[in-house]
Amino acid sequence: MKTLKIGAGAASLLTLALWATTASTETTVERGQYLVDGLAACGNCHTPRNPDNTFAEGMYLAGGFEFNEEPAFHAYARNITPDTETGIGDWTLEEIVIALREGHTPEDETIGPPMPMASYNLLSDDDAMSIAMYLKSIPAVRNEVPEAVYNIPKFSPGPAPGGPTPPTTDPVAYGQYLTTVAHCFECHTPTDDTGAPDMARMGAGGFAIQALPNGEFVRTANITPAAIGDWSDEALRRAIVDGVSQNGHILFPIMPSTFFHNATTEDIDAIIAYLRTIPPVENDVPKVDWMAAFGMPPMQNAPAME
Ligand code: HEC
Ligand code: HEC
Repeated sequence: MKTLKIGAGAASLLTLALWATTASTETTVERGQYLVDGLAACGNCHTPRNPDNTFAEGMYLAGGFEFNEEPAFHAYARNITPDTETGIGDWTLEEIVIALREGHTPEDETIGPPMPMASYNLLSDDDAMSIAMYLKSIPAVRNEVPEAVYNIPKFSPGPAPGGPTPPTTDPVAYGQYLTTVAHCFECHTPTDDTGAPDMARMGAGGFAIQALPNGEFVRTANITPAAIGDWSDEALRRAIVDGVSQNGHILFPIMPSTFFHNATTEDIDAIIAYLRTIPPVENDVPKVDWMAAFGMPPMQNAPAME
């Protein structure tokens, strides 16, 4: 285990000790990094991007990425590096865990969307603490992020159930847990008339996630067995970790494949095993040529797969 350079005061050391007695597996900085840079994909929102969609250098998790969903809200992913003035440097480990799982900051503000707290609410005690420890270990970056404006009510997901990480010996339960950490259904579930996720159609896709310059929308794909049931495991693995659909379509990079690429094959296979068990929902979602919409050369499709 790496040394923790967190300048931990007695209080956070005590928290760690308490956590260690209730945890069944290890809480480590490495596990935190594995999740943050992998399935939890924090940087997909918290690391700002250059105009060409590459990540801005030296700005790892420093915030500023903009979500303009006016009139509903205009938000910015916040600076979650340990900078004490513009980041979360003076938060304790426990305060970070509460923000992550329950959506409350130490100033008692409720964190707004699209931070996927409904999913992170189910993080195990070890994994939530590991993520907090990792965030304390990364370089502090000074980056002042503008305040968000929300014209819709913000809500906290409530107390976190906590508990241990499901054992890898139960691939479907473990896969369900990882699918939650990877917040697949926060993107892949369509919304109902009120704008809330329609959980009766979990995973059916069709959610308009990104407006393109030509007025079209990138919509999330149907990932229930009705749509992907006849894909091979290999084709699903390629879609999840390489961002290429079964038919060769290059997936719009909001699908966090560059992060999922860092997950182990065992973890991706557990997600696939779980996806095969969810209720099939018919929903035909058209794919758009987003590359052409950005004025790039016409889409060069990769080879199709079984
Ligand atoms: C889909 C985008 C998205 C993802 C993924 C995401 N966040 Fe966020 N996060 C946000 C936004 C947007 C805000 C700011 C919301 C607001 O202003 O109320 C935020 C706020 C936060 C805050 C509150 C910071 C503060 O100063 O108030 C913390 C802590 C945080 N995120 C940690 C994380 C961690 C850790 C992960 C990965 C495990 C993560 N987030 C993944 C979008 C995201
Ligand atoms: C931040 C939003 C987001 C998250 C989180 C996300 N996806 Fe996606 N995913 C998308 C979008 C958008 C597309 C469609 C992109 C396109 O059409 O170019 C997509 C496409 C896919 C496809 C391709 C399906 C097809 O028909 O081509 C698969 C499979 C998939 N996602 C699985 C997953 C799984 C499994 C997870 C969680 C481990 C996940 N996604 C998490 C946004 C997301």
